[in-house]
Amino acid sequence: MITIHLSTKDLFEISSSGYVILLPEGFTFEGRLAALAQQFFPELKALFKERGFTGKAGSSLVLHASKGKDILHVMFVGVGKPTGKHHDIEKFRRALGTVVRTAHAHAVGSLALEMPPASIFGMTPHELLQQTVTICHMADYQFDEFKKEKPSKKNIDITFATSSSQQQKAKVAIRVGEIIGHAVNATRHMIDMPPSSMNPSHIAQHAQKVAKKHGLKATIFSEQEIIKMGMGGIAAVSAGSHQDAQFIVLEYHAKKNAPTIALVGKGITFDSGGLNLKPSTNMATMKEDMAGAASVINTIAALAELKVPVNVIALAPTSENLPSGTATKPGDIIRFYNGITCEVANTDAEGRLILADALSYAVKHYKPDLIVDVATLTGACDYAVGPFYAGMFTMDDSLAEKVLEASTRSGDRVWRLPLHEDYEAGFKSDVADIMNDRKGSYRAGATIGGMFLKHFVADRPWVHLDIASNAFDIPGVSYTPQGATGASVRLMIDLVMNWK
Ligand code: BES
Ligand code: ZN
Ligand code: ZN
Repeated sequence: MITIHLSTKDLFEISSSGYVILLPEGFTFEGRLAALAQQFFPELKALFKERGFTGKAGSSLVLHASKGKDILHVMFVGVGKPTGKHHDIEKFRRALGTVVRTAHAHAVGSLALEMPPASIFGMTPHELLQQTVTICHMADYQFDEFKKEKPSKKNIDITFATSSSQQQKAKVAIRVGEIIGHAVNATRHMIDMPPSSMNPSHIAQHAQKVAKKHGLKATIFSEQEIIKMGMGGIAAVSAGSHQDAQFIVLEYHAKKNAPTIALVGKGITFDSGGLNLKPSTNMATMKEDMAGAASVINTIAALAELKVPVNVIALAPTSENLPSGTATKPGDIIRFYNGITCEVANTDAEGRLILADALSYAVKHYKPDLIVDVATLTGACDYAVGPFYAGMFTMDDSLAEKVLEASTRSGDRVWRLPLHEDYEAGFKSDVADIMNDRKGSYRAGATIGGMFLKHFVADRPWVHLDIASNAFDIPGVSYTPQGATGASVRLMIDLVMNWK
């Protein structure tokens, strides 16, 4: 756990067992550093040299000194070189990640850190504080409930020394930052859970809990109801599994004439590929295939808690994709909720099948002013932009602009990839309206996936996020060091919060 405090005191006036000094590459021994050397570490310069600490982004060095009866931990963290006009906020985020993780490793219970001036990142102090709080919570996340020996779970009190005196505004920033951080971590926890402990019914239970806590309307359709409603996509994908598919719909209502945003998330709780069985290396992490569903459920929870002035609907079709005697076969033809028929050319392209029904349902019942769908949809996206970006697909340039702005602000990265009518012929079927695989000469698998989904959003403004690239195991990002990352949660919260 992390508890955040603010102080207008000078850093070393703050009572704390640890102090953090952020240093850029090429720093000089002046001011704070010189004073620190004089008081505690006379050999500081030599120590830095010996340990090779130069302020390189991602590097850190912890030194200990005694201060009366206490042990003082001083943590030096490199933030690298400034790039262009502003310092790169992502380097600061990763430095914070290093700080929190190092504090856990050394069992330091309290830390004081001087906030850098927000202007060096081109941000307001309020924005910087909110980001800082979110990242501290993200870095604090550990998935250890199945371990006997748990790493340190000690609470860390972090005090930020800041000259900004707008206490009220700062309090809001801390609260918002916390809500976002918790939503990201709740998403990561659902994804990190073993697939047999996070099946469609477990996700539905979680959604019910979220709905109860935040006063949301929850509607959950069973597999029988899904079949009865004519959702041939969800039904086909679920046919091979003993688990009951669940189509989850959560509603947050702001006020009557508010715009409505639908968030649709892919919830395949395990993707074996079905009869088109995945090779074992590709199957190993397929518990992550419900990341989209986890994202939209926890995003709507955060948006409700933040009381955004926008109606939000979260839709999560959830299912397990397994082979068996009752599984859907390549060559089967299915009919979606909106009447379109599809040849199942490959049972491993199941995400688009369940999303087709969910998107059609969202269009028909809510006429949203914006649809965002989020899915671990294609391996192709992973090869295109993995592991540091999600693929972003829309034909609407002004919407793409808004999503990119939300991405830049929140640090949840997306890279726009093409959607174009030219790709349409790439998944035309000889026996049905469309098929769920591509013809050989159409190689852009991630784009074909997006074009497929476009058939189900009618005329609604829509953006598709393919997070197959960054939902799980991103190397080199200190605040999401392993497992699920919660990709898309920060982005969607930011997008909806700033929606006009
Ligand atoms: N769940 C996978 C995509 C995926 C790959 C997610 C890597 C996370 C990491 C998806 O259902 C899938 O298997 N897609 C196929 C589609 C193809 C058969 C048209 C793919 O990308 O290979
Ligand atoms: Zn698949
Ligand atoms: Zn999948």
